[in-house]
Amino acid sequence: MSIRNLDDLLAEGVSGRRVLVRADLNVPLDKQTGDISDDGRIRAVLPTLGALTEAGAKVVVCSHLGRPKGAPDPQFSLAPVAGRLGELLGTAVHTATDTVGESAQATVAALADGEVALLENLRFNKGETSKDDAERGAFADQLAALGDVYVDDAFGAVHRKHASVHDVPARLPHFAGRLVLREVEVLSQLTGDPERPYVVVLGGSKVSDKLAVIEALLPKVDRLLIGGGMCFTFLKARGHEVGSSLLEAEMVETCRNLLERSEGKIMLPVDVVAADAFAPDAAHDTVPAEGIPSKRVGLDVGPKTVAGFAAALKGARTIFWNGPMGVFEMPAFAHGTRGVAEAIAGADAFSVVGGGDSAAAVRALGLDEKSFGHISTGGGASLEYLEGKTLPGIAALEN
Ligand code: 3PG
Ligand code: MG
Repeated sequence: MSIRNLDDLLAEGVSGRRVLVRADLNVPLDKQTGDISDDGRIRAVLPTLGALTEAGAKVVVCSHLGRPKGAPDPQFSLAPVAGRLGELLGTAVHTATDTVGESAQATVAALADGEVALLENLRFNKGETSKDDAERGAFADQLAALGDVYVDDAFGAVHRKHASVHDVPARLPHFAGRLVLREVEVLSQLTGDPERPYVVVLGGSKVSDKLAVIEALLPKVDRLLIGGGMCFTFLKARGHEVGSSLLEAEMVETCRNLLERSEGKIMLPVDVVAADAFAPDAAHDTVPAEGIPSKRVGLDVGPKTVAGFAAALKGARTIFWNGPMGVFEMPAFAHGTRGVAEAIAGADAFSVVGGGDSAAAVRALGLDEKSFGHISTGGGASLEYLEGKTLPGIAALEN
């Protein structure tokens, strides 16, 4: 690939230069306390930041957090992230109270060689996500003025045509960071010639989000295992009753069509944990997937399903997993996700975990990250990569 990476930049020399690093520090925050509930994305960018500080760069980090609406919104401040980043880097992180304004300019100007600054949330500015090229461009101009070179290490955001991802690299010499490079290397193995059997596990709530990737993957995979909220629309398409479970009625016909075309590659749950309500302490039991009682809601896949999925995963040589099998945040409904994750970890396969939720699930359930081949920091980004789409952030680095 014709992309220059961090090693090329380090070979040029960065001492004393301002390196603008786009990171994806969009970490989940605890709704009650505001604490960072999973710092995986912060840790994932440390190799790039560490190499730059060691080489004496003035490192200017920028990121989005959540989806503020183009204006400052304290609940989406990156300040807590700066604290955690500083702890992990073992050095103070200088924080700006705006993204490209006076505070940002002064913070960057005051940086000594080897020091790190974090700008405030990119999405506090309308230009970051604007669909208008000129508006995005104007913001990109301001952002680019804070760096001499640009490094993209925000793999989780490369599928967004946003100013910091798509327009800044047109304005500065640009390089892929270590994380972006590794993610692309790994995912290209899955789109290239994966060792077989190649088994994909998909979960998460919505079929509509996954439709494009299912279409792209079906011809390539040997097995496609479907769990999570999206499985109920497939079960409905098979003619089963799904009670009050999550259902995308307008997708039933599409799912029926996929099942007909899938040559038996698609495996659906055979049993489901059905609860009286969507609540951690709701009464629940395991029922056959053919008939979920009305008024009950499926919140996890059942043990027979886990056993069947595990058997399919056992012989796999390549595995991609995106999306939890159930509501794993509630311990009563975490068994499916845990069982499938353990089967993936135990398989003698090159396994890739894609996505914010599944990656967070691996860590939240206390599984050993090292028993997976790669844990991607990108949810939407990894899916769009596997769909074969052009990713604006990657394309911008190629030019
Ligand atoms: C993500 O978490 O999906 C990435 O950080 C991108 O965020 P977005 O989906 O809000 O663009
Ligand atoms: Mg997203």
